[in-house]
Amino acid sequence: MPPAIRVERLAKSFEGRQVVKEISFEVHPGEIFGFLGPNGAGKTTSIRMMIGELVPDAGEVVIAGLPMPAERDRLKSIIGVVPDHQNLYDRLTVRQNLDLFARLYQVPPQRVDELIDLVHLREHLDHPTVRLSRGLRQRTLIARGILHRPSVFFLDEPTSALDPHSAQVIRRLIRDLRDQGTTVFLTTHYMEEANSLCHRIAIMHQGTIVAIDTPAGLRMRFGRPTIRVTLKDAEAPVELPLNDPEGARTLAGFLAAGRVARLHSQEATLEEAFMRLTGAEWHEPDPGTESPAGGRATA
Ligand SMILES: Nc1ncnc2c1ncn2[C@@H]1O[C@H](COP(=O)(O)OP(=O)(O)OP(=O)(O)O)[C@@H](O)[C@H]1O
Ligand SMILES: [Mg+2]
Repeated sequence: MPPAIRVERLAKSFEGRQVVKEISFEVHPGEIFGFLGPNGAGKTTSIRMMIGELVPDAGEVVIAGLPMPAERDRLKSIIGVVPDHQNLYDRLTVRQNLDLFARLYQVPPQRVDELIDLVHLREHLDHPTVRLSRGLRQRTLIARGILHRPSVFFLDEPTSALDPHSAQVIRRLIRDLRDQGTTVFLTTHYMEEANSLCHRIAIMHQGTIVAIDTPAGLRMRFGRPTIRVTLKDAEAPVELPLNDPEGARTLAGFLAAGRVARLHSQEATLEEAFMRLTGAEWHEPDPGTESPAGGRATA
């Protein structure tokens, strides 16, 4: 089977500034592939080239063995897209928006009904989409994106600015699609979402891909696991790096002196890995709050 997506030395400049710098990667069939990076990294520009919306300056995009944009018409039935902006027909209702696409993609009308239930939109069916909340519009967009049962599904920040319930509905749907064998290409700024959903993640920074690995691989290679030591004779806990000789010596000293009240190991988070890879300063989270990238465990 060919890769679901193969990108080779893909490049794009705007006004003389290269914003995508010869990136290359492959996405396996059935994989949920995360594409993360700070604002302006070049994620949306890359997606727009991959879905045939923007012509690359150089490089290759091949989806399910078919080159984009040469095979754009055939690829239309293979790929599904949820763009980063909500491009629904505002004055049309949810049903009218979906019916329109169903006709365009020659999908039987029953499929529209099936999707309406899948994204829990039945009670909003006859509302113009302009009157819907952002979360409901987003679910309409997602339903529209999978009407024709695409085998490769691109979602550009599908859960951004949604309440936890709407975000959950969308994440569950992405998992269900994966279970049915759909390849998912996902951008998100939510580290926990990427950490829990994605098989592999590419981190993009200033137009280049700086790392590709599983979430666990990224956390391990670029995160910083620590151990928090609460001492019997000190108020504030001490943070020591794990896998560090100096940290180990200090901990051994505390243990030998019988000073340790509690040990709490803290797994490296994807957020830390992201911060290190993209050059942003990493600030220790407030000990009172859980890190959004989770993964904490008590030793
Ligand atoms: N049509 C355009 N014309 C000129 N510059 C553009 C255009 N589209 C994108 N850019 C610039 O290219 C760079 C990459 O933008 P892009 O939208 O791909 O980033 P992104 O990684 O998707 O960011 P975000 O996380 O904010 O969505 C930015 O500096 C942006 O201003
Ligand atoms: Mg973007």
